[in-house]
Amino acid sequence: MNPDQSIMSTRDRIAQQLVGRSRELELVLAAVDAGRDLVLEGPPGTSKTTMLKAITAEWGIPLVFVEGNADLTPAKLVGHHNPARVLREDYSTDNFVAGPLVEAMRLGGFLYIEEFNRAPEDTLNTLLTAMADRRISIPRVGTVDAAGSFRVIASMNPIDDAGTTRLSTSVHDRLCRLSVGYQDATAERDIVSLRTAADPVPLPSDLRTQLLDDAVAVTRATRTHPDVRQGSSVRGAIDCVLVAAHLSVLRRVTVADDGYRSVLLDAMIVALSGRIHLDDAAQTTPEQVVREIWEEQLLLAAAATPG
Ligand SMILES: Nc1ncnc2c1ncn2[C@@H]1O[C@H](COP(=O)(O)OP(=O)(O)OP(=O)(O)O)[C@@H](O)[C@H]1O
Ligand SMILES: [Mg+2]
Repeated sequence: MNPDQSIMSTRDRIAQQLVGRSRELELVLAAVDAGRDLVLEGPPGTSKTTMLKAITAEWGIPLVFVEGNADLTPAKLVGHHNPARVLREDYSTDNFVAGPLVEAMRLGGFLYIEEFNRAPEDTLNTLLTAMADRRISIPRVGTVDAAGSFRVIASMNPIDDAGTTRLSTSVHDRLCRLSVGYQDATAERDIVSLRTAADPVPLPSDLRTQLLDDAVAVTRATRTHPDVRQGSSVRGAIDCVLVAAHLSVLRRVTVADDGYRSVLLDAMIVALSGRIHLDDAAQTTPEQVVREIWEEQLLLAAAATPG
């Protein structure tokens, strides 16, 4: 990290790459700049990785990803000795293969543990030690000291409770926390517009405008449908626009054609049905939910048409 890069100019440069999120960016930046470790709590697709990538890129440090799941043992997090080489050469620092924790500590990166609450208890304990002491000792390797910019950033999906560990108060007590939610419709439309702008398929601008409006509206509607536990993130809207654009070319459909409606429905099925998680008690299917939302959207569109 370059010490004379002021936090304000860092914030301003990152803000230029983000749609909205100025408050969240400030809070995350203030926390990591203050040397704190942090948990980001929010559903998928709510800018967590985007913000962390931007901050680590600004600081010129690596963002080391690790997925929290039942297989993330302490040995996987810390590293292991290459067994074949141990047989030949015995244990040495040389044949130690660093895991993501040691890599992030040595390089002064952010260790980003996604779905933190899925990691086993003993793995979390290893992490707590690294966070508290900023160093760990590894048998037959020695002590690893964390470089100054090492941080632990965890993420959690608040709705995700299957197969997760109840995090102990001692874990929560060692982390700052920021909850991130979905952005408003205008911001989501801007994100979808930005992330689909490079698509090579040339679309008439009225078709593109309509697709952006519809994709964002139907994606947002998946989050409030009564049978849905967790709806689609903005990624669903991005994919919906891209799939619909290519379908409309295949089917030679313009925005004024009747065929536009089935292009929208088919794109929604492809882009959204796999991203909808139904309530356990729901007596329906994701395809059915998508169809209901589509019908609702067409009714709204018809009501909005003058004449
Ligand atoms: N504020 C934003 N500005 C620009 N693009 C964004 C913004 N938020 C999200 N995106 C885009 O939306 C997609 C998902 O965002 P991101 O990967 O940051 O989500 P996430 O919170 O890390 O999700 P997950 O929990 O699933 O990992 C990416 O394509 C990203 O570029
Ligand atoms: Mg992410």
